Amino acid sequence: MRIDKMLANSGFGSRKEVKKMLKSGAVKVDGAVIKDAKFHVDPDSQQVTVQGMEVEYREFIYLMMNKPPGILSATEDDRQETVVDILEDEDRAFEPFPVGRLDKDTEGLLLLTNDGQLSHKLLSPKKHVPKKYFAVIEGEVTEEDGKAFQRGVTLDDGYHTKPGHLTILSSGPISEIELTITEGKFHQVKRMFEAVGKKVTYLKRLTMADLVLDETLELGEYRELTEEELESLVNYEKKAEL
Ligand code: URA
Repeated sequence: MRIDKMLANSGFGSRKEVKKMLKSGAVKVDGAVIKDAKFHVDPDSQQVTVQGMEVEYREFIYLMMNKPPGILSATEDDRQETVVDILEDEDRAFEPFPVGRLDKDTEGLLLLTNDGQLSHKLLSPKKHVPKKYFAVIEGEVTEEDGKAFQRGVTLDDGYHTKPGHLTILSSGPISEIELTITEGKFHQVKRMFEAVGKKVTYLKRLTMADLVLDETLELGEYRELTEEELESLVNYEKKAEL
């Protein structure tokens, strides 16, 4: 990989800052000063030092964000701000992407990583990874809706959903619920409620597999996963049907 990318990923600043550092002669690879930002280095077999200090390289980044409303779950967009745009430079240097999408107006748990293998595993339809949402619903949510979700409902495009598990927190003209689903069809939660004649007015993701939104994160804030959280995702296996 390029030396400037490796150093940026290792917390030595943006690519621009790293370039300056290289120019200054502070960086050595296997003892030789390297000034060329395009120089290719193998972090596993070569020793890289900055001002004599060895650089410990890490390849992957795993971030938990409390996604704010009004921001796209994408890496880049010509017109609108994305979840990657709101990361610090040193984290963006790892080129993370969101694992799955939340709608622009949806809040809550979003995992960002550059680990394609983990992302693939969590998104694979075969893995049935559960995701739990909190939602505010216009209309009275009933036990009948819960039974319908358990059987699966037919969406506007004819797709019949897999079972979802509904918990009614409060019911009235405005209801509050939690819904766990194991799929990630476009607007799935909103369309499931449409299928039973109701409207989602607020949606927040709470969990994904065993990962639980850290409620101390303000909207738009994020942090790295703890070792335990990462391990739980890497080792995640489907437990039981909903
Ligand atoms: N279901 C939705 O309708 N929207 C989301 O953002 C996530 C799940």
